[in-house]
Amino acid sequence: MGRLTDRVVLVTGGARGIGRAIVETAAREGAAVAFFDLDECAGTALSGGLEEGTARVTFHRVDVTDSGAVEATVADVLAVHRRIDVLVNNAGRNVYADPVAMTEEEWDKVLDVDLKAAFLCAKHALPSMITQGRGSIVNIASLHAKLTCAGMYPYAAAKAGLVGLTRSMALDVAQHGVRVNAVSPGYIRTALVDEYYVDSSARSRTRTSASRGCEVKSYHSSVQAHSADRWAVAGWAGSSTWTRPGWSGGWPAKRVPRRSP
Ligand SMILES: NC(=O)c1ccc[n+]([C@@H]2O[C@H](COP(=O)([O-])OP(=O)(O)OC[C@H]3O[C@@H](n4cnc5c(N)ncnc54)[C@H](O)[C@@H]3O)[C@@H](O)[C@H]2O)c1
Repeated sequence: MGRLTDRVVLVTGGARGIGRAIVETAAREGAAVAFFDLDECAGTALSGGLEEGTARVTFHRVDVTDSGAVEATVADVLAVHRRIDVLVNNAGRNVYADPVAMTEEEWDKVLDVDLKAAFLCAKHALPSMITQGRGSIVNIASLHAKLTCAGMYPYAAAKAGLVGLTRSMALDVAQHGVRVNAVSPGYIRTALVDEYYVDSSARSRTRTSASRGCEVKSYHSSVQAHSADRWAVAGWAGSSTWTRPGWSGGWPAKRVPRRSP
């Protein structure tokens, strides 16, 4: 019997990377899993593969920044499973810009996925959690919420906002037995990070900064090794709320060259 037997887990951005590892872990732990993603091909392949192994996993093609679509799809999940026990707000994107060149539209796109979507998904999942007097929300933030490099503007702002949202929401829903935690990974080698390393213009923008510490050797090479138990401790199994564990691959320990003012 797994740690999540009889639980219903909803994961956003579950088709690949960290989200995929969370979907696979939750299914292995016995949960019924629903996951949202834009990537229809990867989402369908993942749910099909897991269901062959008898896991109860459903993929929903949803843009988590679309309030109406989130509301309708959360309602679909509730119609099937009757409740949501765990929501993992994982969908996210990187951006490589600077404050002068960045357009307002680009800003909105980043903040919508990395911050607003967590609010939207929580807004529609919370009523079910509040009714049952129990629930857990896990927001996947980032080490960049506290420590960042030049050239990744405004990812750090969005992730710091997500940590603030976690704190605020944890206080508001604790009275209903709902816990809200954030997890702040360091670099984990997923497609998101690989895309950064093939984007030479992004690399050149970050080269003079703290990113000197972000060499490939400091990546966690395995998503699996750094998801299952830590996320479980943070949000699934325990009684904690408003925690924000992070792990960094040693990045913060590296010496960052300082310039004279
Ligand atoms: N990889 C890292 O080093 C790292 C470090 C710290 C935090 N994070 C965070 O972890 C989360 C997952 O990162 P990852 O590396 O697995 O990224 P990834 O790009 O591999 O996966 C992100 C998933 O989110 C989905 N997605 C993006 N926008 C969406 C939208 N609007 N609606 C629905 N789905 C959407 C993508 O299709 C993709 O499947 C992100 O929030 C990221 O910021 C990643």
